[in-house]
Amino acid sequence: MRSFVGANWKMNGSGVEGLAYLERLKDSDVESEPVDVVLFAPFTLLPVLAEDAREAGISLGAQDLYWQDRGAFTGEISTSMLLEAGCSWVIVGHSERRNLFGEDDELVRLKLIAALRAGLRAVLCVGELLEEREAGRTEEVVKGQVLRALEGLEEADPDRVVLAYEPVWAIGTGRNATPDEAARMHGLIRSWLSDMIGEMGAKDTRIIYGGSVNPENAPDLMTREGIDGALVGGASLGASSFLQIIRSCCHHHEH
Ligand code: 13P
Repeated sequence: MRSFVGANWKMNGSGVEGLAYLERLKDSDVESEPVDVVLFAPFTLLPVLAEDAREAGISLGAQDLYWQDRGAFTGEISTSMLLEAGCSWVIVGHSERRNLFGEDDELVRLKLIAALRAGLRAVLCVGELLEEREAGRTEEVVKGQVLRALEGLEEADPDRVVLAYEPVWAIGTGRNATPDEAARMHGLIRSWLSDMIGEMGAKDTRIIYGGSVNPENAPDLMTREGIDGALVGGASLGASSFLQIIRSCCHHHEH
């Protein structure tokens, strides 16, 4: 299985910075690494970066989408707009969308279906809040998110969907889940997937970890069984730290 590493820039970056960043990835020959690298840039940067991303051998993704294809939805972006902008991936259900902008499981599912039907690939994010973890509800919460997004969804094959486990208390806090705890949650997610889509599909689905991944903790996280890559926020903004994380994931692949 090829590892997957995503840079989620969130609401950061500019065209000039983005082009310089892609130049660095190109010079570092990221293309030859046995890992799928995707840059999730803000909407306005997608067409600006599309050509250089292709030259650097990485894919471009959006951080969100709307499920309707057109119409009176002020401020929203459709799948055909993303495709035209040069995107092949999209994030759905990021915790910031869920918690800051009120997205529920039903909307996340509609977005996932729209993305897959349009031919985009998707990173589906799940993860519990600190208060849910402290109340002993982590497994129930994450299982609910996985099931409500994916149950009965025929389009959700391992080629087109990556799951990201991102415990909300670990995002942007500098406090990552321990590799043991991340691996335990990944194992559980894979077992729920297996119940839904069968053992083969679950085995082939990449489950990546997100939440304060950086060049220091990546080697330990990425060598754990069942952790197939990373979704990186803060540490993806600089090309050199993101490159180090990419390389940690490649070593995982060689084992
Ligand atoms: P940080 O790496 O900044 O904690 O963000 C993680 C994340 O939300 C990636 O989607």
